Amino acid sequence: MGMASLYDAAMKNYPYVITISSEKGGVGKTTLATNLAIFLKALHENLPVSIFSFDNHFTIDKMFAIKGQKPERDVADLLMETPGHDLLCTGQYGVNYIPSSTALSGLKGAIKGPMVLARLLATSQIPGILIIDTRPDLDILTQNALFAADQVIIPIKDMASMENCRNIFDLFDKRGMDKKSLALIPCLVDERVKYDGMFSDQKTLLKAYAINRGYRCHDTYISKSPKVEGLNTNPDGKIYPILTHARNTDVFGQFTQLARTVLKEMKATAEPRSLLFHQWTTAEDARKKDEFFARLSGVKSHCIMCGSPADRAQSGIAYFYETSDGSDAGFMEESCFSQFLLSSIYNMPEGMASDDPVRLMLQDTLKESAFAFKPVSAEGGTSIECHRFDLSGAPMSGKAYPLGRLSPLLETLKGYGETMRDAFLLVHPITAVNPEAILMEENYREFSRLKRRIAEQIS
Ligand SMILES: Nc1ncnc2c1ncn2[C@@H]1O[C@H](COP(=O)(O)OP(=O)(O)OP(=O)(O)O)[C@@H](O)[C@H]1O
Ligand SMILES: [Mg+2]
Repeated sequence: MGMASLYDAAMKNYPYVITISSEKGGVGKTTLATNLAIFLKALHENLPVSIFSFDNHFTIDKMFAIKGQKPERDVADLLMETPGHDLLCTGQYGVNYIPSSTALSGLKGAIKGPMVLARLLATSQIPGILIIDTRPDLDILTQNALFAADQVIIPIKDMASMENCRNIFDLFDKRGMDKKSLALIPCLVDERVKYDGMFSDQKTLLKAYAINRGYRCHDTYISKSPKVEGLNTNPDGKIYPILTHARNTDVFGQFTQLARTVLKEMKATAEPRSLLFHQWTTAEDARKKDEFFARLSGVKSHCIMCGSPADRAQSGIAYFYETSDGSDAGFMEESCFSQFLLSSIYNMPEGMASDDPVRLMLQDTLKESAFAFKPVSAEGGTSIECHRFDLSGAPMSGKAYPLGRLSPLLETLKGYGETMRDAFLLVHPITAVNPEAILMEENYREFSRLKRRIAEQIS
């Protein structure tokens, strides 16, 4: 993919994500995030630019909200699976924003791992560039913003903030993620400070230290400017952008340069991570579907006990069975399996009424149990060990029964001639509504885990 296609990808709603992050407070993250958005938009009018913040100080909202706008939803809804595109508000300076939220700290516990945002952004339909401002910590939200980003910009203003950024690099190492997305930028640089010797000023010194530690640094830096500092203190209670209100400062030129660098890096990227993530999840879904159908094709389509087609079962399909060697699998009607247990295992008289209390009690137990049947050869012939487990695999009861006549169920374990295979049969309750659901990725994985746990106990 070349330049044109990245642009296509971004336009087709796979955002190119830029995260601003540093554990240290007050290093200029929010100033950087908001003004970078505005400069990017000014440089590239056709490119959609959006921004949101995981912080709860509402700077984004104060800066971009158009007067009278009363957004009903915010960034908390993004985390609750509302597509990002639906949350974008048209903001000032041509920048879209997702309103900030005060509810995020309460949501943190519900965020399952650091790749949630990457997934949400892959299906967000947010076009163009998306900038994420973060809180001064490395909590689960910041981690999500870091791992979803194509570029992470880490402002540093002194040695302490530079030492701090090791934690970000370590996070990437721990997850085995490529650190080439990470780059530092000296911020709030006081141009008046001069040193003797090779590193004559703050930015040169910081850069030298950063490079010495193996951190990539932006060529640009951002100066400390009283004019910029004053942009959020004014009688209107507004926050003004550098682009419009600090035109004749060094910082204006520095932001222009940074925005150009960011665009250049974006154009040199073949595919944004959100598109890659989308492709990966699509391939995953296809694989899961293939595996489901492969499993389904290996499963008998009629009740193994009475032979009636599963879709016309008399008492409802209620059990799934599979042999431990995987060579036979299928379904059973509710009444077939409970009748089998009653007559062959519990020695109850045949023909017990369907509302007999013993039978009803058995049915309740069955819903909470998995059964394993294992043939064992002894001197007096083959007997069958019958084990009952709860659905987490904890043993409940077990006993060996001599079985003269094999029920159709135990035929599944037949070996060569009169012998039985060295395997066991596992019977597991399922929901009658959609029996095949047990063959789907997550359910089947759980079933297989149970099977393994039971195998460890009875083999
Ligand atoms: N280039 C600059 N020149 C002068 N002052 C600046 C500059 N950039 C930011 N500031 C000021 O520094 C303070 C901190 O900036 P900012 O809020 O952007 O930092 P932050 O890293 O987002 O802070 P926090 O960690 O609290 O979110 C603000 O008062 C801001 O106005
Ligand atoms: Mg901030």
